[in-house]
Parts: sequence; structure tokens; C-alpha cells
Amino acid sequence: MIKRTFAKFFHLGLKKLGLIALALAVTAGVILLGVTVRAQQPVTISFLVRAVEAEQMQGLADQFMAENPDIRLEMVRGPNAADAVENLYTTSFLLGDSPYDILFSDVVWIPKFAAAGWLLDLSDRVSEAELADFLEADVAAGLYQGGFYRMPFRSDMGMLYYRTDLLEQVGLDPPETFSDLIAASEAIQAQTDVNWGFVWQGAQYEGIVTNYVELVAGYGGFWIDPDTLEVGLDQPAGIQAAEFMKAMIGEGISPPGVTNYIEEDSLRQFENGNAAFLRNWPYVWAEANREGSPVAGNIGLRPMVHDDGQQSAACLGGWGFGISATTPHPEEAWRVVEFFTSPGPMKEFVTEFAYVPSRRALFTDPDVLAEFPHFEQLLEVAETAVPRPPVGQYAQLSDILQRYLSATISNQMTPQVAMERAAGESRRVLGVDG
Ligand code: GLC
Repeated sequence: MIKRTFAKFFHLGLKKLGLIALALAVTAGVILLGVTVRAQQPVTISFLVRAVEAEQMQGLADQFMAENPDIRLEMVRGPNAADAVENLYTTSFLLGDSPYDILFSDVVWIPKFAAAGWLLDLSDRVSEAELADFLEADVAAGLYQGGFYRMPFRSDMGMLYYRTDLLEQVGLDPPETFSDLIAASEAIQAQTDVNWGFVWQGAQYEGIVTNYVELVAGYGGFWIDPDTLEVGLDQPAGIQAAEFMKAMIGEGISPPGVTNYIEEDSLRQFENGNAAFLRNWPYVWAEANREGSPVAGNIGLRPMVHDDGQQSAACLGGWGFGISATTPHPEEAWRVVEFFTSPGPMKEFVTEFAYVPSRRALFTDPDVLAEFPHFEQLLEVAETAVPRPPVGQYAQLSDILQRYLSATISNQMTPQVAMERAAGESRRVLGVDG
């Protein structure tokens, strides 16, 4: 009896022990599993990007995440105006501990961000030989005081789009000069049911500056000479460029609403068939020619118009990747940058959206050319495009120009007065007045 009880007790004891052991094992397992699950949690790499472009980059982002399950890429959708995005990045860096691991950067931002110490120097990660495959101006935009802060992803240059069908209707060739553009616009507005001649970007933001850069160069002048810091705004060409903008609206060639247009607004007008000419970036080609676009197949593209005896000028634009100095994940961030800027993904992006590649070889790539034959000529335009001044005070200088151009095209100031004041303020910012 005692034996049996003991045996029973012993048996129960064993059972209990077994259960405890099992419980312990399960707990340990859960803990271990927890650790492993946590170790497999992907690292999030985040950056801010204009909403239109985030849509377009999503395909590449998904591809990257499929190939790199340890990284989750978060593209935060920002406003579509380039400098509005810059302001958001600036605020986040100023506050310290920016939530962005990557700076998806316009071609004009680097001197300011690098000088502030907000970016990692990428020189050790990429060789000069590797950079030689990229457009020189795109690489130059990433240089600051011996460091390299921005890997080029795509370039940009302003172009003039025209409606081939409308020009044919009025029997004119595509315009080369400012007066050709005016004459063709007036003829088309008079003889067809198209309302507007020329649409462009006149809102008070970075885009109006890029339009101005092309106009002032088309009159043979300049905004700011990057080597001497001389300001050209109040010189004859500087004033003529502002007069041209104002005259376009005053003479009814451009709609009054152009003073609020950014890229997308002007593109809509052109795409809906409401305007004969459009100044915009190369991506418009794919968008306006897409299936279902009312103007598909009736579009021509050429360098921007200029004054008699002068040359066309394209403003250099473009976007690339920098890495935030405070990111806890610089290695993962670099893998993202490497992916987007490598030949395969860049080619995919370019072929789908007609964006201008930063890698030179893609301009003559047979697949790219099969899709966009005009890319062969774009290489020359890219190599001669006019950069905006690469100075640390760029954002302030751009802001001054934006304000005064906006004031003159909305009839608050004559072009002469506006450009004189803009020149004075710019010289003070640059420390070259007096
Ligand atoms: C485009 C250009 C960029 C420019 C902006 C102005 O995005 O690539 O360089 O600053 O337009 O709107």
C-alpha cells in the first residue's frame, strides 16, 4: 500500500516535473523565438520625396524590399514643390534626430546640407572611377569642400514642348527664338480653338527660378556667376527675362493662372489640349504621350527658345541620394542608395517614366532609345545645361528671386524695379555689395 502510494506519488511527481520541464522548455522556446523574431524585424529606412515621384519610385522600392527582406523602405510623401520638400527636411534636421535616414536631394541642396553637417561624406564608399560613369554636372552637385554627399539618381533639364498638329495647321515651324514663340502662339490662338499659347511654371517656388535661369541665359545673361559671385539680375538680360515672363501674361499668351502653376498644373493644361507650348522637364514626354492622353502622338520637343543671336539654355535639375549624419543605420541606407543608383534600376525607372538618367551610358542604351529616340540628343543638352549657383546660401538666393519674380508677374512691381531690388538683396546675402 505504502509502496503503491509512494509509487503513485512518485509517478505524479515525475509527471509534475515533466510538466514543469515542458513549461520551462516552452517558455525558453518562446523567449528564443522572440529574440529571433526580433532579430529578423526589418530595419526601416525612411526618406521624404515629392508625392508624384514617390508613386513612380514605388515599383523600385518594392523590388528592393523583395530582394532585401531585412530592410523596410518607407517613402514619405511630401509636397510636389521641390523647395517645400527642402523646407521639411531642413526643419527635421534643425530639430536634431531627423526621422529621415536618407536625403532625397534636389541638385541644388548639397552645399547647405553638407555645410550644416547634416550629411555623411560618401567619398569612401564610391570611387572616382565609378563616378566617371555619371554626368559630370550631376557628380559636381554632390561635392562640397572635398567631400562627396550625393549619389546622382536622375538628371533633369528644361525643354520646350510643342503641338506638332497645331503648328502644321497654321503652317509654321517649331519656334527657335522668343519672337518665333510669340508669333506662333498668336497664330495658333487666332486660328484654332486652343486658348493659350505658352504655359510654364510661374508660382512662387523653385520652379519659377528654373524658368528664369533659362530665359536669362537665352538673353545672353546670368543669374549669379558661381566663380565671381557677380549678380546679373539687374543687368539688361536679367531684366529682359523678367519682362518676358510678365509680357507672356500681359499679352494673353499665357493664362493669368500661370502665376500659380507648378510643373503638374502646366502639364495638365498642355495635356488637355489647352496650350500650344509648354516649358517643362523631360518626364512630360512619357506622361503626355501615354495612352488616353488627348495630345498623344502630336507632341514635339526641342531646346528652349532664346533671343536672336543667342543660344538655347536648359536649366540643370535632377535628384539624388544623400545619407543623414544621424541615421542609426548608415549601412542599410547605403544599400538603398546603391540600389537606386545602380544601372539596372536606373534604367528601369528611366524607361518607364522618360526621366533623364544620371548614368551616361543609358543615353545610348538601345532599349532606352527604342522607347525614347530623343534621348540621344538629350545627352548634349544634359552636358551643356546651366547649373544654379552651388553656394551655401542657395535657398535664400532662390527665395529672393522667387519673391521678386512673383511680384512682377502679378503686377505689383515693374520688372526693372523688381530685378534691381532682387539684385541688391542677393548681393547682401552673398556679401558682395558695396
Ligand atoms: C525638377 C528639377 C529640380 C528643380 C525642380 C523645380 O524637379 O529636377 O532640380 O529644382 O524641378 O521645380
